[in-house]
Amino acid sequence: MSIFDIHPDISQAETLSSEFYTDEKYFRESKEKIFARSWQLIGTTDEIDNLKPFTILESFLDEPVLFTKQEGNLNCLSNVCTHRGKILVEEACKANGIRCGYHGRRFDLSGKFLSMPEFENVANFPTEKDNLTNIPFDILGKLLFVSINPFANFNESFAPVIERLSWLDWKKLQSSKPLSRDYFVNAHWALYCENYLEGFHIPFVHQGLNEVIDYGTYATEVFRFVSLQTGFADTGENAFAFDGKTAALYFFVFPNLMLNFYPWGLSVNIVKPLQKDLTKVVYLTFISDETKLGTGAGGDLHRVELEDQTVVESVQKGINSRFYDKGRYAPEKEQGTHHFHRLIAEFMN
Ligand code: FES
Ligand SMILES: [Fe+2]
Repeated sequence: MSIFDIHPDISQAETLSSEFYTDEKYFRESKEKIFARSWQLIGTTDEIDNLKPFTILESFLDEPVLFTKQEGNLNCLSNVCTHRGKILVEEACKANGIRCGYHGRRFDLSGKFLSMPEFENVANFPTEKDNLTNIPFDILGKLLFVSINPFANFNESFAPVIERLSWLDWKKLQSSKPLSRDYFVNAHWALYCENYLEGFHIPFVHQGLNEVIDYGTYATEVFRFVSLQTGFADTGENAFAFDGKTAALYFFVFPNLMLNFYPWGLSVNIVKPLQKDLTKVVYLTFISDETKLGTGAGGDLHRVELEDQTVVESVQKGINSRFYDKGRYAPEKEQGTHHFHRLIAEFMN
């Protein structure tokens, strides 16, 4: 019987079996079944001048892709030569075309095969297969997303984010320096995500945060691939201007993206699996209002992160116990975690 059977009614449901986190088989399967089907935030449009290579989830999916830009036209291509598989572009550069450094195969910036030395007598050549595969990509503000084989189109996946932030001036979100900060967590990627998905633990784990967020009114909404937690401020000072009440909007986009909007800007967390018990969390910061930085719900993110890591690493030890397999959900507080487990079950089945 499949372990991926989470009751749709949260009041009856049991959590995901600990086997999902402890068995190497499921970690391996999650690559193609979950991550290759999802939209991954790969960088920002600021980074792309002309040719720029990226790797989708390095040390996990390890898919090499290449962004090209010419006269404002953006393409995302497979960065692997269709001859014998060399990586085509190793670092960002400027060029009008792509030439493989192994045997000289050439492509234009849309990925179309152009020429190849010594192939005059090759039968049925070239064909479609000699072009570089186009990889689906999309843009939100300046955030750049790619998907190897998307489960749903970008707009469907991100609809609640786009709709709820219709008031936001995306252009105002500037990158801060340093642009990013990495954390390494000794835990399964899903344990890190499900901790994020409930504010239930705030009064127990985050004393500081508890003082600026009115935990009693903390709200969770779930959509198809997104869940949204809204934190309300205890004073107008710590709130967004659009309603004078909201202190933070925490969007989770399945399977591994957190978009945290605060009155000062946006903090992005990308949860990158490395091993079944090791996860890298990348923080990217985009500031829209420097004067509000360091205040309110998004005040001391580093401290909150370390508090979360400590508790998640403790859970990682606990799920290996012979005496633990599954738990139950608090119906009013753990809808986000239930929704996440249901999506894992749907993708893994
Ligand atoms: S691998 Fe690219 S030309 Fe041979
Ligand atoms: Fe937390």
